[in-house]
Amino acid sequence: MDRAQNKVFHVGTALFLFHDRHPLFSTSQKTQQLSSPSSPRRRDKTPPNPSYQKIEKPGSNLGEGTYGVVYKARDLHTNEIVALKRIRLEVEDEGIPSTALREISLLRELTHENIVDLKDCVQQDGKLYLVFEFLDRDLKKALESYNGLLDPMLVKSYLFQMCRGLAFCHARGVMHRDLKPQNLLVSRDGVLKLADFGLARAFCPPIRPLTHEVVTLWYRPPEILLGSQTYAPPMDVWAIGTIFVEMVTKRPLFPGDSEIDEIYKIFRQLGTPNEVVWPGCTALPDWNPAFPIWYRSSFCKVFLDNVDDNGLDLLERFLAFSPKDRITAKDSLNHPYFDDLDKENI
Ligand SMILES: Nc1ncnc2c1ncn2[C@@H]1O[C@H](COP(=O)(O)OP(=O)(O)O)[C@@H](O)[C@H]1O
Ligand SMILES: [Mg+2]
Repeated sequence: MDRAQNKVFHVGTALFLFHDRHPLFSTSQKTQQLSSPSSPRRRDKTPPNPSYQKIEKPGSNLGEGTYGVVYKARDLHTNEIVALKRIRLEVEDEGIPSTALREISLLRELTHENIVDLKDCVQQDGKLYLVFEFLDRDLKKALESYNGLLDPMLVKSYLFQMCRGLAFCHARGVMHRDLKPQNLLVSRDGVLKLADFGLARAFCPPIRPLTHEVVTLWYRPPEILLGSQTYAPPMDVWAIGTIFVEMVTKRPLFPGDSEIDEIYKIFRQLGTPNEVVWPGCTALPDWNPAFPIWYRSSFCKVFLDNVDDNGLDLLERFLAFSPKDRITAKDSLNHPYFDDLDKENI
């Protein structure tokens, strides 16, 4: 595969990325749309210009997650603020795997109002920089910043936007696989977008995240916890259900600290499943016939006080034990809980 001609220069503490055309990335529709005669970066035979400059704030990058560090940066051609994500590759010398490149170019075509826009890719020396539109903050930080609870209509709007973004991706065969508040970005004007999309399929997640933070189990569905190897769209819907409760109560629903603790927390709330409620569950690899039997208990008071019966009904559909019974992201958009939302204008 052709190596890109991009170069990374470190000048003082600033990081400048020099961007040339890369045959793979520049053939995407989106890039062509961006190209215009006045856009020197995209024209052939243009000498390389620095394209992105990291914005330095003392000691601050936007975040450090599973794949690498995310910086706030400026697109020197458009003056736009962007988020620049450096992907750590397991074997940097060998360049970027072609499967990853294919996946990235797919993601560039996923254009939707509730999905963070992947604007550009720059690769150099086996390092890959993904350039995203910038949003103010992630949902985890947003939840922490509120003094009281979130306005119930804001919760509803965020939830609807999550489902709409997810439905769009599922319709195109792309799953998220790591939905959690840190991977949802919100802007000051109430827009929510899914971030960190599809990377799980493009790159194997490193065994240890960069921050030594333990990979969180809190949003993982029971079928995966019980050893199912098939990753299917209902797993993302389960995560949406747990995030729904967290948005209302500002507390994670199932904050397990180990796989078994996670499973038990789910069973304590929803009741230990059996072949009646979840046909096939006892045949899953990590099913244990000695699991304690708990009965379903009601959701916490804060949730029930702040969500009406429709909200509770939708939650129960998100958290159906059997992936086959779980509501789909697409169907959730028509659930009565969302009836009083101005869907066209959010
Ligand atoms: N486009 C963006 N705008 C603003 N902040 C971002 C953006 N992308 C990521 N971040 C911040 O960086 C963190 C890590 O980014 P993410 O894409 O989730 O990387 P990872 O795959 O390493 O988890 C996010 O939780 C968020 O706080
Ligand atoms: Mg992330």
